[in-house]
Amino acid sequence: MQERESFSSRLGFILISAGCAIGLGNVWRFPYITGKYGGAAFVLIYLLFLLILGLPIMVMEFAVGRASQKSAVGAFEQLTCKGSKWKIGGYIAIIGCYLLMMFYTTVCGWILAYVYKMIKGEFVGLAPEQMGSIFSDMLSRPLYMTFWMVVCVLISFLICSKGLKDGVEKITKVMMVCLLFFLIILVIRSVTLDGALEGIKFYLVPDFKKVKDCGLSEVIFAAMGQSFFTLSLGIGAMAIFGSYVDKRFSLGGESIRICLLDTFVAIMAGLIIFPACFAFGVDPGEGPQLVFITLPNIFNQMAGGRVWGALFFVFMSCAALSTVIAVFENILSCTMDLFNWSRKKAILINFVAMIVLSMPCVLGFNVLSGFAPLGEGSTIQDLEDFIISNNILPIGSLIYLLFCTSKYGWGWDKFIKEANTGKGIKFPKAIRFYVSYILPLIVVFIFFMGYKQKFFS
Ligand code: ALA
Repeated sequence: MQERESFSSRLGFILISAGCAIGLGNVWRFPYITGKYGGAAFVLIYLLFLLILGLPIMVMEFAVGRASQKSAVGAFEQLTCKGSKWKIGGYIAIIGCYLLMMFYTTVCGWILAYVYKMIKGEFVGLAPEQMGSIFSDMLSRPLYMTFWMVVCVLISFLICSKGLKDGVEKITKVMMVCLLFFLIILVIRSVTLDGALEGIKFYLVPDFKKVKDCGLSEVIFAAMGQSFFTLSLGIGAMAIFGSYVDKRFSLGGESIRICLLDTFVAIMAGLIIFPACFAFGVDPGEGPQLVFITLPNIFNQMAGGRVWGALFFVFMSCAALSTVIAVFENILSCTMDLFNWSRKKAILINFVAMIVLSMPCVLGFNVLSGFAPLGEGSTIQDLEDFIISNNILPIGSLIYLLFCTSKYGWGWDKFIKEANTGKGIKFPKAIRFYVSYILPLIVVFIFFMGYKQKFFS
């Protein structure tokens, strides 16, 4: 058995956990669903759910990790008994990590490809419709996409191969600092464009009529789903970092810091995108293509757009890679614990596995595009996203919730003791009833709503 590593500093723990949370969910998904569901009114509903839904579950994941000092699968057994059925929760978590990465590596590859294209000046002088064809051309080329997906997997595993402190912690810290720096520069550029004010208003002044038009239940569902996705909850991704941290600080306080950083980046990403869209008269509710077609078009019209565009995609790469590295660390730690592998062996096997597992997503846009698993026009990526976002994240979160609050699991008293050990903001004992009975019902509601929306509306 190898000795368990730990973080070298509190900052490392906070930045890596934030790096795991901050990803495509913040810089890609959040802005386009905010655009779709009416701007600031959606942001307010989202913030509410982050507080009442995401934050308590995050504290629970950290507590399970810190008390057990084990990765997802071992943690449940360690805190109950050997052979306990709760360990199924650990398997669901690890399957969730693989599934999330099965499409995340492809999108991360697109972003890396766009960094290269921007720097090379491939977009200079293109008309808007040509920008659309660059994206669709990329999707139609399996080898090209595979190349960039492999680059993403390779970079991330190389960083993990240096170990927790010297690889994951050191590099993620640098990446997060770069991310925050680029973020601020890009926000300043965007909000100072002529005509940016309309975009800022759209984003920051709540318009509840829009929520009514979209349907309140749909908006609430989207806000709840986003709060799970953005915090990577239910797949043990946070729990693993709990297992590397000491007991000096209470987990409530640390979780609030991580949520604040995550929210800051998501809101600021909107402040890059919306003012720019309005300044150049582009519809911000463009869906997932917002980042790969709409924004490059905007950069094309901007003075110095090639530099701004490259900066933007480097910023996106930091966000996406920090999540990939964090989830890979979770996968590595689990497979090392489960099979007693060395880090090197776990990396080699998972490197090959991850590339093979990412192929269906890559091929779903070209060779296998005839396969539309969720109805006309859908792709394998949509199916993977549906399985993870609408199933594994809520089910995994429900398991952590029940495990921490039920006497048949780890139990409330042990959970609260672990969560509140150390200096800092404590998890309020007064919300026991809420987290034990109401929160699980909310999560079950999200689960069923996901199906209703996908198949019956
Ligand atoms: N939390 C990760 C993200 O937001 C999955 O992209």
